[in-house]
Amino acid sequence: MNFPNQRPRRLRKNAAIRRMVRETQLLPDQLVLPLFVTEGRGRPVRSMPGVSQLSISQVVKEAKEVFKMGIPAVILFGIPHKKDDRASSAYDKSGIIQTAVKSIKDKVPELYVITDVCLCEYMSHGHCGVVSGTIDNDASLELLAKTALSHAQAGSDMVAPSDMMDGRVKIIRRALDQSGFKETGLMSYAVKYASAFYGPFREAAGSAPKFGDRKTYQMDAANVRESLREAKLDEKEGADIILVKPALAYLDVIAKVRDVVNLPVAAYNVSGEYAMIKAAAQKGWIDERAVMMETLLSIKRAGADMIVTYFAKEAAKLLLGS
Ligand code: PBG
Repeated sequence: MNFPNQRPRRLRKNAAIRRMVRETQLLPDQLVLPLFVTEGRGRPVRSMPGVSQLSISQVVKEAKEVFKMGIPAVILFGIPHKKDDRASSAYDKSGIIQTAVKSIKDKVPELYVITDVCLCEYMSHGHCGVVSGTIDNDASLELLAKTALSHAQAGSDMVAPSDMMDGRVKIIRRALDQSGFKETGLMSYAVKYASAFYGPFREAAGSAPKFGDRKTYQMDAANVRESLREAKLDEKEGADIILVKPALAYLDVIAKVRDVVNLPVAAYNVSGEYAMIKAAAQKGWIDERAVMMETLLSIKRAGADMIVTYFAKEAAKLLLGS
């Protein structure tokens, strides 16, 4: 049976029926807002309109607002004063992230706080691991574990390693468990590509590598089977959530990863994806809100259970109709 018996347009006739047959739902519950916390004064990020580096007092204020809007979680990135070749500010008890987590948890205890675990913002050379000739995988693991543990001690609900060193999920999980942080969650940036879409983030977090690139540790954009290998390894090593990053140019990867792991899958709608929409909207070339919602929906449709996005507040506002 086909036309005229089959008329798919019947199910698009008006808003009510379209709502009833809609296959994918986007909810504020599924959004995580990234926040940049600085030891210095807050300032706007030039390449990410609407995003700022926040001081501790500003980040607490923002956390309260985010929680009130019904967004369940934030992910924190730190911008320290001091950088060196051991990333010592990353695991300093009174470092920027540790202080920010304590301050937020003190004032907004119900907001779920995720902390990004990486060394690049804290290294003088801007790489995500220890440099000795190359990026030394195994020497970096100890520093990553120390960093994650210090976040847990400060009250982080979930640590999120984004460095792409092999074996770090296992080492971090073990370090947390050995110190009694069995309840601290671990979201692994298991599938993270070496991507030019991180450009604006590197300005926001001051983390551009001073030499070379990240291609020896982050994944090659051409590969998809490798993403399944990475995701499965991290599932075995004890990750609670698997994250794919970036999102838009990798929707196929999100869909495939969703099929092979039994953990929740998150996708990171990264800085460059945000900046492109903001820039085109500022020029009046696209309808910002419509493109934002279509983008987020596409990431959900691909299979992401949750989305880390700089649009979280704007999207939540629209979804809640306020
Ligand atoms: C740190 C890190 C990066 C991002 C998240 N964590 C940058 C990078 O790997 O260079 C990118 C996020 C974004 O672009 O929004 N390793």
